[in-house]
Amino acid sequence: MRDAQPQAIRLADYQPSAFSISSVTLDFDLYDERTFVKSTLNLAREGGKDVPLVLDGQELKLLSLSVDGRELNSDEYSLDPDSLTISNVPDHFELQILTEIHPETNTSLEGLYRSRTMFCTQCEAEGFRKITYYLDRPDVMSVFTVSITADSERYPVLLSNGNQIEAAPLENGRHRVVWHDPHKKPAYLFALVAGDLAHIEDSFTTASGDAVTLRIFVEPKDLNKCDFAMDALKRSMRWDEEVYGREYDLELFNIVAVDDFNMGAMENKSLNIFNTSAVLASPDVTTDQGYQRVEAIVAHEYFHNWSGNRVTCRDWFQLSLKEGFTVFRDSQFSSDMGSAAVKRIEDVTLLRTAQFAEDAGPMSHPVRPDSFIEISNFYTLTVYEKGAEVVRMLHTLLGPELFRKGSDLYFDRHDGQAVTCDDFVAAMEAVSGIDLTQFKRWYSQSGTPVVRATGSYDAEKKRYSLTLSQSCPPTPGQSVKQPFDIPVLMGLVGSRGNLSFALVDTASEQRSDTEALLRLTQAEQTFEFDDVEEQPVPALFRGFSAPVRIQADWSIDDLQRLITSEEDGFLRWDALQTLALLAVDEAISGREKAALSALIASIQAMLEQDGDRAVLATSLILPSENYIAEVHSQSQGADPIAIHTARESVKASLATALIDHFEVLANITIEGAYAPEGAAIAERALRLTALDYLRFVQPDKAADIAISLLEKSDNLTDRLGALRTLGAVGGKRAEVAFDAFYRRFADEPLVVNQWFQIQAMNPYGDALARVTRLLAHPAYDNLNPNKIRSVVGAFCSANPVQFHASSGQGYALLADVVIDLNKKNPQIAARLLAPLTKWRNYPNYAQRMKVELERIAAQENLSKDVFEVVSKSLAS
Ligand code: PHE
Ligand code: ZN
Repeated sequence: MRDAQPQAIRLADYQPSAFSISSVTLDFDLYDERTFVKSTLNLAREGGKDVPLVLDGQELKLLSLSVDGRELNSDEYSLDPDSLTISNVPDHFELQILTEIHPETNTSLEGLYRSRTMFCTQCEAEGFRKITYYLDRPDVMSVFTVSITADSERYPVLLSNGNQIEAAPLENGRHRVVWHDPHKKPAYLFALVAGDLAHIEDSFTTASGDAVTLRIFVEPKDLNKCDFAMDALKRSMRWDEEVYGREYDLELFNIVAVDDFNMGAMENKSLNIFNTSAVLASPDVTTDQGYQRVEAIVAHEYFHNWSGNRVTCRDWFQLSLKEGFTVFRDSQFSSDMGSAAVKRIEDVTLLRTAQFAEDAGPMSHPVRPDSFIEISNFYTLTVYEKGAEVVRMLHTLLGPELFRKGSDLYFDRHDGQAVTCDDFVAAMEAVSGIDLTQFKRWYSQSGTPVVRATGSYDAEKKRYSLTLSQSCPPTPGQSVKQPFDIPVLMGLVGSRGNLSFALVDTASEQRSDTEALLRLTQAEQTFEFDDVEEQPVPALFRGFSAPVRIQADWSIDDLQRLITSEEDGFLRWDALQTLALLAVDEAISGREKAALSALIASIQAMLEQDGDRAVLATSLILPSENYIAEVHSQSQGADPIAIHTARESVKASLATALIDHFEVLANITIEGAYAPEGAAIAERALRLTALDYLRFVQPDKAADIAISLLEKSDNLTDRLGALRTLGAVGGKRAEVAFDAFYRRFADEPLVVNQWFQIQAMNPYGDALARVTRLLAHPAYDNLNPNKIRSVVGAFCSANPVQFHASSGQGYALLADVVIDLNKKNPQIAARLLAPLTKWRNYPNYAQRMKVELERIAAQENLSKDVFEVVSKSLAS
């Protein structure tokens, strides 16, 4: 352990900055073996007279420091590893700082660093302090002018935020470009890129008639993979005008693709920097899901221009202010662009599988955390996905028109400001008159609420009473919870379809003959419905109207009624999932197969109807092993090996019972050249899912189809699906196919990553041995986050049966990787750790998992990132 333990930072300690910075000029002088940064700041005192100036700074070599043109002596300031303090400064002054930094050895991918042939930056959340001394906090906003000097031949393209205002060749083969961004911004939105980049260009005319030039910069080899992102960008810009009335505010919008990136992408003002995996797309390197991810991330970063940049966060505890809202916006965009039903199912699946698990584990925190040791650890599913659900609940409570008025007011009131989640809610309150005081507990209380439902029907009075009760389990730092304000969008299902009713309660709202929005605000409430013609099954949380766990003792008949007769597609799918969970539980306990028979009958009925093909494809997919484990960990604890075996047996039963359907579907032909569009996406998904069932009954036939797909298909979706099937069937043919595939796509890193990933995720055979081989593969790179995620991340978090098997060797492998990365890239090291932190969910495996956590905890020089995750997950 380190001697001085890292300290937590608390929301309650927030203080406005003692100084403001009206303008900043940065001069970068880039060389291969060092970079000089000259920063000129115009500072003004905002707080008390004798408050010293304390600037953040890490890993910087200070070369000189002057105030109003006078160089300071070393006794006029003090330095420590995280800051520079100048005790006596005037009320208004110019500070000039010259520092030397080393991007060429910066493997943390934070601050200024090198990715392959280029220089690039990542400053959110606290990376700017690795570039120069600064007030590195989001509520200090300033106007930036940036000059970049570098070798003309190797770095012909020099980019920063805003508009290019100067460009000139210099002596010695160098050149200099100057950028000016007229919008005030916090340092975390600063960006710089230098490289030998190619670009595509397009243009967009805003609703007000202003022309915007759009460019996507990539390494020249990737120039043929930019068109889809450009199209997605233009669609996002139009959509934000139409749905939120938000226009773009500069003449230029740039995107740059870089191969070494910790996250998906970053919304730097007018210079978005993207992980290549989140922007490049072509049928050979991108699956259908990959296309949808590119579209969603391009939109997400673009939408941040308003929700994040024009209106930013006061402090990092407010991160969900920009992230939750922006995820909500990008999910609305994606549902408008594709299948809304499938998008909702995917979002809820992610939330329930991973966010619920996070919220039930040792890192559980509120959407607005009250403390952190390292803010990088709080770019979480809770802040992003649960945060988006909180915004979605506001949308449900207000309805679309009032919600739009609220967002207009929010953007209007706070344009150019750094604000809080309270300000967002206040705008929604102001336009609607709805009291959201209690609702705000969604921001401050962690943990997933549990809602229990029971009902009773009085046939004589035709009255149905529904009793809902809520509770929320204790989470770290919060042993007792207050009731949440929970919007329950619901209906009642009779034997032949939805029933009309008259809601008696007045605090809630009847939205149609067959739909009500109940407001569950107390620990327990009973809602009465009149004019109900028969005993109903309640259909609760339509569209998943609140991020809660629902406990109702549905019988198999109730579930079947929901599956066949409920009007909300999400709840039909959800009931089918519940049935599948019951079938898995039956298989684990060896009980009678009642749920399994019902599941087979329901899926058979769906296969025989001619409904939405995208929904059908999604409905054929059983709950994942991780999701089942999450559900089990709420009661008896999870056993990943038993879960795998049981789920496989349910799959095999389905395959056997419905083999004729699967054989037909596995052989469908899809007309036309590849296009990542709705109908074709659904057909490909159906074909591959059917193939995955077919292999249970006729493995050789499935392998034949897979090999022919590999040979004939024109796209990566089919090829990877085929490889996955072959990997599952195993044998010599599979080996040959994997080798041939690698040789064919060895030049495409994004394809190699996915080739790594399906091998690491393959639950059959000896995955540990496979992963060990992949880690030694020449294409593996232990500093590239995409590669690490494709192998180590995929194995540890998406192959539970193999990660937990192998008598703890999977845990040891993960611990070794984390220890190696701890200093090299602390953010990635801490993120990879998540699966080990869930040791309490696996009673029979916990001891071995803990041993590895303790081994990590015992290392010297733990980064703050890893220290926080390890120490919280071991705390009792
Ligand atoms: N702000 C980025 C996004 O959500 C995510 C990010 C955070 C990227 C930190 C890099 C570092 O769009
Ligand atoms: Zn974001």
